[in-house]
Amino acid sequence: MRSERVTTAAVKQKKADGKPITMLTAYDYPMAKLVDEAGIDMILVGDSVGNVMLGYESTVPVTMDEMVHHVKAVGRAAKRAMVVADMPFLSYQVSKKEALYNAGRFLKEAGAQGVKLEGGVEVAEVVRKMVNAGIPVVGHIGLTPQSIHQLGGFKVQGKDLEAARKILADAKALEEAGVFSIVLECVPTPLAKLVTEKAKVATIGIGAGPYCDGQVLVIHDILGLYHGFTPKFVKQYTSLHGQIAEAIKQYREEVESGAFPAEEHCFAAPDELVEKLY
Ligand code: KIV
Repeated sequence: MRSERVTTAAVKQKKADGKPITMLTAYDYPMAKLVDEAGIDMILVGDSVGNVMLGYESTVPVTMDEMVHHVKAVGRAAKRAMVVADMPFLSYQVSKKEALYNAGRFLKEAGAQGVKLEGGVEVAEVVRKMVNAGIPVVGHIGLTPQSIHQLGGFKVQGKDLEAARKILADAKALEEAGVFSIVLECVPTPLAKLVTEKAKVATIGIGAGPYCDGQVLVIHDILGLYHGFTPKFVKQYTSLHGQIAEAIKQYREEVESGAFPAEEHCFAAPDELVEKLY
């Protein structure tokens, strides 16, 4: 029996009940299926697709068409989790009309149930427009990777009084504009705790400590699909990079040595059949 789809009301209820909300990224059908079947509440098709799947150096070059392509694959896989599509850079900043059209594409064309966008006070009007059109919106404040060139690097945000006040004001503006949830990225634990206590909507932390209403991570990070730098806030639950590299090496060696394919991988035919073809 298929369990019911996670809704914005269910997310709000989890906050009210003090039950942690789970969110994880996925960008393709097989991974999204695994995430969905594991009972994760929300699948974020993050614009981190640019870094982890498309080989870009940041999320800035990711386009709407690239996002729609990945959201469609995830949308086909997810039966229970709410699918949240990330609005890529410049898909919501140019005009409210364009922002609404782009957000709508994710629901109409790609099978998402909600969208996420970066920014606080400055995007509140755009959020309101989407919410009024019936589109569930997740906000994203703190470290906002689309502004990486302005922020000057991947740094913890809200570390002085002015910056901390801005994060509180951003959360309030987003809540008033109608978001059902807010991602807090790279924010000191006590500040994330305060935002969570003040907010009526659920906070989902990434590098924001344990007091948020939920947590989100990038799936490639928890699976250890990369060899190299891992941010402090990531917990690697397995290390697939080495296993995959070893499997590929073995395959190459076996093809080169003739060990693969073996008899069990081949299809037989009666000898006479082929003899007649010579
Ligand atoms: O794009 C993404 O994966 C994100 C998460 C890191 C929150 O925005």
